Amino acid sequence: MADKPEIDEVTGIETTGHEWDGIKELNKPLPRWWVWTLYATIIWSIGYWIVYPAWPLATDYTKGLLGYSQRQAVADSLRQARAAQAKFVKAIAETDIAAIRSKPELLRFAVAGGRAAFGDNCAPCHGSGAQGAKGYPNLNDDEWLWGGTIEQIYETIRVGIRADHDDTRSNDMPKFGVDELLTPEQISDVAEYVLSLSGKAADAAAAKRGKAIFAEQCTACHGEDGKGNQELGAPNLTDAIWLYGGDKASIVESIRTGRGGVMPSWEKRLSPVVMKQLAVYVHALGGGK
Ligand code: HEC
Ligand code: HEC
Repeated sequence: MADKPEIDEVTGIETTGHEWDGIKELNKPLPRWWVWTLYATIIWSIGYWIVYPAWPLATDYTKGLLGYSQRQAVADSLRQARAAQAKFVKAIAETDIAAIRSKPELLRFAVAGGRAAFGDNCAPCHGSGAQGAKGYPNLNDDEWLWGGTIEQIYETIRVGIRADHDDTRSNDMPKFGVDELLTPEQISDVAEYVLSLSGKAADAAAAKRGKAIFAEQCTACHGEDGKGNQELGAPNLTDAIWLYGGDKASIVESIRTGRGGVMPSWEKRLSPVVMKQLAVYVHALGGGK
């Protein structure tokens, strides 16, 4: 190190005297703005220690003048959220189910709650998007076995279908094949007629024979025109929507065994408010009447 600071010739600035392979270090102070920012953050941190929780102690910590606690803040906001929910839950309990739709705030709350409850309780059978599967109806379309008004949907959820509830929705299609009410040939003929109802190519002669059987055996539930009857849970056979499949083999199987899907009753498991939310949600899926 030199005794007297050396001045760099090019910049006219003092060097520190450090030198590496002919490269010398200028003795430049830190920029002033940088130094002031550093001091400001130090002062800020002292203020922070004083007002906010800061230092861990052996068994506790310094609480700070504000006494702020994140745990408390979470507890407070949870309490507020619950209080806000309680308001909606009460309103839903007191509002006629069809009227919920005309109250945007309640509707939003009901749909959100219904969606959550659907995921927890209904998705295993109906699918997470309520799209259904074989034997489990799609709840998005506007084909309904037992009716698609919001009240009818609520009732279906409450009492179930062929379930262990005294008022359950129930109607049993005869097991035409299993109980030998019709011969296999007759079943094949009437299946041809059912195919023709939804405009599918069918054996004309067989369908004609099947039409007579249909008039005798099937119209009581499925209607003269095969359009079904929601009072009886009898599906419309003239559209392209099938619960159990619309190919000949599936239709024959439906007629042979009578089917009879089971949907649990939810009255003992879910509160009326949750069932209302579910009915509103299912109705809002798009197929509601
Ligand atoms: C164990 C399976 C299962 C579960 C769980 C289930 N469902 Fe169903 N659901 C069915 C079946 C099967 C049917 C059709 C019954 C039939 O064939 O008539 C059905 C029918 C329905 C219908 C009538 C559809 C129509 O076309 O009329 C509605 C509405 C419905 N379910 C809603 C729900 C809701 C809401 C939940 C949840 C709270 C739920 N389901 C849970 C099996 C289930
Ligand atoms: C006592 C009433 C009743 C009678 C009579 C009846 N059905 Fe049904 N049928 C139903 C019901 C209810 C269902 C729905 C079963 C279910 O939801 O699981 C059904 C379902 C069906 C299905 C399945 C539809 C689908 O979407 O997959 C076919 C096909 C069918 N019936 C054809 C017939 C034919 C053909 C006859 C006459 C030979 C007949 N039914 C007589 C009540 C009846």
